[in-house]
Amino acid sequence: MEHVSVLKNDVQKYLELEAGDVVVDATLGLGGHSLDILKKIGEKGVLMAFEQDERNLKEAKERLKDYKKQTVYFNDNFRYLKSRVTGAGHKKIDAILFDLGLSSPHVDDAERGFSFMKEGPLDMRFDQKNKLTAEIVINTYPEELLANVFYNYGEERMSRKLARAICTDRKDKPFTSTTQLAGLIERVLAVKKHGKVFNPAARIFQSIRIEVNDEMNVLKEALSQAMELLDIGGRIVIMSYHSLEDRIVKQFFKNLERPPVKSQELSIYQNYDDPIVEVLTKKPVVPTDAEIAQNTRSRSAKLRAYKKIKEYTPEPVEAEWSK
Ligand SMILES: C[S@@+](CC[C@H](N)C(=O)[O-])C[C@H]1O[C@@H](n2cnc3c(N)ncnc32)[C@H](O)[C@@H]1O
Repeated sequence: MEHVSVLKNDVQKYLELEAGDVVVDATLGLGGHSLDILKKIGEKGVLMAFEQDERNLKEAKERLKDYKKQTVYFNDNFRYLKSRVTGAGHKKIDAILFDLGLSSPHVDDAERGFSFMKEGPLDMRFDQKNKLTAEIVINTYPEELLANVFYNYGEERMSRKLARAICTDRKDKPFTSTTQLAGLIERVLAVKKHGKVFNPAARIFQSIRIEVNDEMNVLKEALSQAMELLDIGGRIVIMSYHSLEDRIVKQFFKNLERPPVKSQELSIYQNYDDPIVEVLTKKPVVPTDAEIAQNTRSRSAKLRAYKKIKEYTPEPVEAEWSK
């Protein structure tokens, strides 16, 4: 089946690639964007691609098999971006792409446990070598921690009520399947709006997925590393699919695009006198109606792009014990 990447033309436009460029695709997926990248950078270019899901990596490698000489693969989390890229002999890169979140095979395969509509195990790991699964989160997290996950990563106002119901139910029978959990969510949280039953399971599943894969922390760490690796003039393109991710991206670059207001707040970022990045997308780029009609999964995509214009040095995070 033909694989359709989201915002294909915009991604290439903002990556501004030239022959011979050294590029990172932090989220290879099935290799759709990478294929376009490889065509642009040509034989003298280098593509380094991260994919933590073994099955997606295998499929992408097959799709990109004609470009073996120019491609380095990492079956790894992009949180190790800097060490893997420098370990491969590259101190600087010309461009980097993050196309965050899930791929279609994750949602389509019930066995991965990402879909609340399909019967499957409570898994939700991108990398199946990781230990933490959705089942562990749901059956072992203390009530307060569970509520925090639903509130912080799912923006669920009734997070405490749901956490309490899960902790009560799991005493009798631990949760093992997606539909078992979705049923409880519906029982506790479903509301009627304009005669239609609205089930917030999608948001709750999203929050568990973010926790299982530590997605917010991973993203913050990787953006900083990407900025270190980019050469002056290098481009970074990020596509996010929900507001929490987009907020992290927006906030991270807000601190770099203009001199920040001096504040007493603890920040992991430096106070820069001059902007470090030029904003290439004044407003996030979103898919057209035609693209959404063709590929419904593109509907929540937001693309932001920046160009590095000045050297960037992350400030070390202050350790708890040194305060
Ligand atoms: C939206 S898909 C990418 C689709 C891809 N751009 C394409 O055109 O086929 C996101 C992919 O990134 C992978 N991924 C998500 N978070 C990751 C991380 N922290 N490290 C490495 N891969 C990650 C997922 O497994 C998934 O395959």
